[in-house]
Amino acid sequence: MIIHIFFILSLVSSTSFASVLDFCVADPKGPQNPSGYSCKNPDQVTENDFAFSGLAKAGNTSNIIKAAVTPAFAPAFAGLNGLDVSLARLDLAGGGVIPLHTHPGASEVLVVIQGTISAGFISSANKFYLKTLSRGDSMVFPQGLLHFQLNSGKGPALAFVAFGSSSPGLQILPFALFANDLPSELVEATTFLSDEEVKKLKGVLGGTN
Ligand SMILES: *[C@@H]1O[C@H](CO)[C@@H](O)[C@H](O)[C@H]1NC(C)=O
Repeated sequence: MIIHIFFILSLVSSTSFASVLDFCVADPKGPQNPSGYSCKNPDQVTENDFAFSGLAKAGNTSNIIKAAVTPAFAPAFAGLNGLDVSLARLDLAGGGVIPLHTHPGASEVLVVIQGTISAGFISSANKFYLKTLSRGDSMVFPQGLLHFQLNSGKGPALAFVAFGSSSPGLQILPFALFANDLPSELVEATTFLSDEEVKKLKGVLGGTN
């Protein structure tokens, strides 16, 4: 009997040492790989790693798109690392737009808090799905597909989006095409746009060559 209890106790203590990895708080100084950042030493993790206040404040919409995306991703929100969730805040001034973009690493779901947003995505079959969303309405954007959000109301609009990854990634199509140094002839050859259009858009968005 005593041997039996001793056996159970030793089993409990050994399993508690074989610690399951409950979380992997991002260590921004450590190496990054496709599944996220390396883990901060658990002894140095605090409750602050699992909280984030960066979404409280409206983003600055004084820019060419009249909109701002404020991310709550790893490593800024360190506790999210590896947990397959994250958030962002979208502020859209009147006429503001989050231009066509993709998140290679995650699907996205949006909820409108204020104003009216026309949102849509384009499938791999080149079919578009477009909705006008009001306060409280949600829409989902499947992983990797090009999508956009446009303020189609009168006043400012506010939305929050959630992602199924702590590092969803972001590539904005007009910036990828026209805010780079790829020679304009190659941009023209690969987009079917004219020299005039490509040079104009590079001028607006900060590209060269
Ligand atoms: C917003 O951004 C603009 C352009 O960069 C800048 O001039 C302005 O000071 C910023 N406003 C605030 C409140 O940070």
